[in-house]
Amino acid sequence: MPDRSDAPHRLDPTGADQHAANERLRARGPAVPVVLPGEVAAVAVTRYEELKEFLTHPDVAKNARHFTALREGAIPPGWPLTTIATVESMTTADGNDHRRLRGLVTQVLTPRRIEGLRPRVEELTTRLLHALGEAALDRETGTSGVVDLREHFALPLPMAVIGELLGVDSDLQEQLHQLSDLIVSTTTTPERVLAANRAMADVLGIVVARRRAAPGDDLTSALLAAQAEDGDRLTDRELVGTLLLMVIAGHETTLNLITNAVRALCTHPEQLALVRAGKADWGDVVEETLRYDSPVSFFPFRYPTCDLAVGDAVIPRGTPVLVSYTAAGRDERAYGPDASRFDVTRRPTVRHLSFGHGPHYCLGAALARLEATTALAALFDRYPDLALAVPDHDLPRHPSFVGNSTETLPVRLHP
Ligand code: HEM
Repeated sequence: MPDRSDAPHRLDPTGADQHAANERLRARGPAVPVVLPGEVAAVAVTRYEELKEFLTHPDVAKNARHFTALREGAIPPGWPLTTIATVESMTTADGNDHRRLRGLVTQVLTPRRIEGLRPRVEELTTRLLHALGEAALDRETGTSGVVDLREHFALPLPMAVIGELLGVDSDLQEQLHQLSDLIVSTTTTPERVLAANRAMADVLGIVVARRRAAPGDDLTSALLAAQAEDGDRLTDRELVGTLLLMVIAGHETTLNLITNAVRALCTHPEQLALVRAGKADWGDVVEETLRYDSPVSFFPFRYPTCDLAVGDAVIPRGTPVLVSYTAAGRDERAYGPDASRFDVTRRPTVRHLSFGHGPHYCLGAALARLEATTALAALFDRYPDLALAVPDHDLPRHPSFVGNSTETLPVRLHP
């Protein structure tokens, strides 16, 4: 359907052509009416400066009790974005509730603990790179063929790391990934959304029961201990909500970051050459990928608690607002006329917003950076001739406008 400049923009649930659509959205203004699946009216904030201000605005809340259409019963059951909007966790909490829930996790996820994970991340990476080579092997000819790097490398690394941090035994990790994929997908049918939510609650219930019976040095055990000490600090629903948030936030995002970085380097070999020549390091690659192709796209939701002016637009109170990190990353007002170019030596004066900004700033940023830099350095060291196995424009999109990546990343490890 044509995107007439006065008509609300329909966010494509398949996530196709996100950057082209974002360019049109930014041109229309900093806050643009959009229509979500289920004909739900929302607004997207797309430009860097306005987004940064919006993320710290005192009249903007995250708790869904401010969502007028939801409160009035106008949101259909099984709406694909319900879980993300209503899960009882820090991501839907404001003020003291937010501080309480976030504090319980930051006590465990300390900078020291994250740095302490480095040897384990390196060990997992080495093991997975070996498995990647095995998966690429054509048993009949004995030669190396095509392998999906997303499935065999970009996914299992963050999934194993967050699984270990949360105390999720490895037999449940694959199931948790499948369910969290369904929850972040924006093309899932209402029946499947409801079934995925029930199944997710069941699996997390098993995780909680196992850690209650056999506590360990993990986040679930720490949350259970905090609850046992003082029941007011964490309800049962908040415990499960926090685990759900940590599972999704802790791996879907890093999975996209590693996938998007490998894709960008394969399609921009001159940028990889700059890294090899020492003109940029893997940290530069990670930061530029976060800006250029943000793993999180339209993040749901924030709600103005009064009619709120954003640029020349006014967002009515109670409207669900999506913040568009992919759109802000390529805003020419912030990054100049070549904002859409992947340039690992850019080192912009304006820091990307792809880990958020303000009180809800990503709790896992340091861990994500550790995982991605370790993974990319080791991958290109072990397979220096790694190349995409299909033309870039044929790569299927991951069906979501919340996440931003491809569904698969078929590569050849050797020429
Ligand atoms: C919040 C991005 C990895 C845990 C956020 C937000 C963004 C983000 C944009 C703010 C959402 C908003 O309210 O607008 C990313 C990216 C990652 C990543 C791009 C990887 C490349 C991780 C990891 C973890 C994690 C590895 C866990 C270990 C969280 C949590 C929040 C959050 C718990 C909610 C914080 C709050 O509401 O106070 N992340 N994240 N993230 N992230 Fe991450």
